[in-house]
Amino acid sequence: MAGFPLNHVIEAQQFDRALLAEVFSTADQMRADLNAAQRVYADALRGRIMASLFYEPSTRTRFSFESAMARLGGRILTTENAKEFSSAAKGESLTDSTRIMNGYADIIVMRHHEAGSAQAAAAVSEVPIINAGDGAGQHPTQALLDLYTIRDTLGGIDNVRIAMVGDLKYGRTVRSLAYLLAKYDKVTIHFIAPAVCAMMEDIKDYLDRHHTEWHEEGDLTKVLPEVDCVYMTRIQRERFIVPEEYDEAVGKYILTREKANRMPKDAIIMHPLPRVDEIPPEVDDDPRAHYFQQAKNGLFIRMALLYLLLST
Ligand code: CP
Repeated sequence: MAGFPLNHVIEAQQFDRALLAEVFSTADQMRADLNAAQRVYADALRGRIMASLFYEPSTRTRFSFESAMARLGGRILTTENAKEFSSAAKGESLTDSTRIMNGYADIIVMRHHEAGSAQAAAAVSEVPIINAGDGAGQHPTQALLDLYTIRDTLGGIDNVRIAMVGDLKYGRTVRSLAYLLAKYDKVTIHFIAPAVCAMMEDIKDYLDRHHTEWHEEGDLTKVLPEVDCVYMTRIQRERFIVPEEYDEAVGKYILTREKANRMPKDAIIMHPLPRVDEIPPEVDDDPRAHYFQQAKNGLFIRMALLYLLLST
C-alpha cells in the first residue's frame, strides 16, 4: 500500500476524491473485519498510543475514536475534560500541551473551542493531529462519516441534492461537509437557516469556485420534495454571543413526521447529533432516518483514519 499522504487531518479541503475513495474503502474493510469470525485488523495498531484531548464536550467523536483505537489493538490516553483537568486550567498554552503530549502518544485527537486551534497544534506537532472539531471552524472526520453515509445509503455522491438545515453559521459539520461535497459532480446544496445563522460567505465562495450549485431558501417545506438528503443540525446555544439571536433562531426549523412525509420515499434524513428538538423522536422509526447509523459509521471511518495515519 502506498503511504497515506496526510501528516495531519485538520480540514476537509485536504481530501481529494482519490483520497476519499481510499478512506471509504478502508472503512468498508474495517466494517467487514468487525463482523468477521477471524479479525485481520484486531492487532493492527498494537503498541501504538492515541491521546484524546477534548477541551469541549463530546459523546460520539471521542468515544468512537477511543473505540476505534481499542478495536485496532492500540491504547488510549484520555481526560474527561481537558479544559478543566489538564494543565490548560493552570494557563498552559495549547502548543506547549501539544509538545508535551508528543512525548507520550503516537497520535493526538483534539477538540477545542477555538477555530484554528488544530492547525496551531499541528504546526508544532511531530505526531499526527486529528481535528475533532475546532470551535465554529471545521469537523473534518464528521464530514468524512457523513459523506460515507451518503455514499452507502444513496449509492453514490455525484448528482446528490442535499438540504442543510439549522445552524449553518456556527455549524462546523456543515462547513466541512460542504467542502467535501464540492469535490463531486452535479451536487446541489440548499441552505435553510434562520437569518442570524445563515451559511457564511467563505463557503458560498468556495462552492462558486468549484462550480457547485447552491441556493438559499427560507421554506423547508418547499424544498423537502426536491432533495435526496435532509441534513438537520442543532441551533448551538453555546456559540451565540448575543442571546437574543439564539432566541430568534431556536425552534424555527423542526422536521416533524408530517414534514418528513413530504420527502421522496428513498431520501434520507441525517443529523450529526446531538439533537435537541429539531428532529422529534416520532421520526426515529421512519425508514429514511439514518442518523443513528450515521453515528455508527463514525467508528468505521475513524478506524480507517487511525489505521491509514499510523500504519502506512
Ligand atoms: N457529532 C458530534 O461531533 O458529536 P459529539 O459532539 O457527541 O462528538
